[in-house]
Amino acid sequence: MGQSATARAHTNIALIKYWGKQNPELIIPYNSSLSMTLDHFYTDTTVTFSTELTADQILFNQAPADAATNIKMSQFLDLIRQQAHFDLHARIETINHVPNAAGLASSASGYAALAAAASKAAGLDLDRRTLSRLARRGSGSATRSIYGGFVEWQRGTNDTDSFAVPLQETVDWDIQMIAIVLNDREKAVASRAGMANVVATSPYYPSWVQTAEAAMPKMRAAIIKKDINLVGQLAEQSAMQMHATTLSATPPFTYFEPETLQAIQVVQQLRQQGISCYYTMDAGPNVKVICTSQETPQILTALGRYFKPEQLLVAKPGPGITVQQ
Ligand code: PMV
Repeated sequence: MGQSATARAHTNIALIKYWGKQNPELIIPYNSSLSMTLDHFYTDTTVTFSTELTADQILFNQAPADAATNIKMSQFLDLIRQQAHFDLHARIETINHVPNAAGLASSASGYAALAAAASKAAGLDLDRRTLSRLARRGSGSATRSIYGGFVEWQRGTNDTDSFAVPLQETVDWDIQMIAIVLNDREKAVASRAGMANVVATSPYYPSWVQTAEAAMPKMRAAIIKKDINLVGQLAEQSAMQMHATTLSATPPFTYFEPETLQAIQVVQQLRQQGISCYYTMDAGPNVKVICTSQETPQILTALGRYFKPEQLLVAKPGPGITVQQ
């Protein structure tokens, strides 16, 4: 018999992107970031610590995880074992309701759920700020998935002051995202490698940090004003400024694929017709469209000329973490 807990965490999409680490080991970013948690994509994780296990056992959607994931997750569990002062192994069962590694940030919901379930199973009663710091050690974007609605990750300078805070947990205005799943293959350049490359080689990187920091108060104000156009414009700018650092790196690289540009063009054309919609993308080819629920049917019709219905997933602001023992 063991000590068990289950957590559900939703993924999030950054409106102001996190891109680049000042401390890669502790995952302290160079710039603060701001995201919206989504209701449609989430991870359920159960962690059981047991005296009967001789190694950590990790299952993703009921199949054993690959060797690299095993090592990374075991190292993450070590942080919890240290805090709980025990050395029991764990069985981790994760069901991912997020297309894996395709720029839909399954690592965000994954490490947030793991941090919450594993700490609870280990008998630690961590508050949300401490959970956010712990999730950060698995994946930067997971720092923000502890909270629902709009969330800000304050970059900080060290392990204790780099965490997320809720900005608007209950979203009572009309904003949502259409995720266009162009492909759900593993991305060619993982975000970790992509960030390390741009920090080291892009001449635009210092400007990225400066503009991202300057955009934070503007985005905060746009959210408080519930101004979808301003939120969308700022999010689009942040995404393209981030992607400019990949094009300007040595060697240069891009997450764009031909269908990415196709999706961007549809959004631009719709906007010319007076429809409020804006695009954003993370470290993968998929495009997310920021829009109102009212205009979503028209946008889906326009996107439907190029993409299949099953490629178009609509998500609204989602909730923060939940844990059960
Ligand atoms: O999920 P991570 O921590 O490897 O980094 C993801 C970074 C972006 O998704 C590109 C931006 C962000 O803020 O989520």
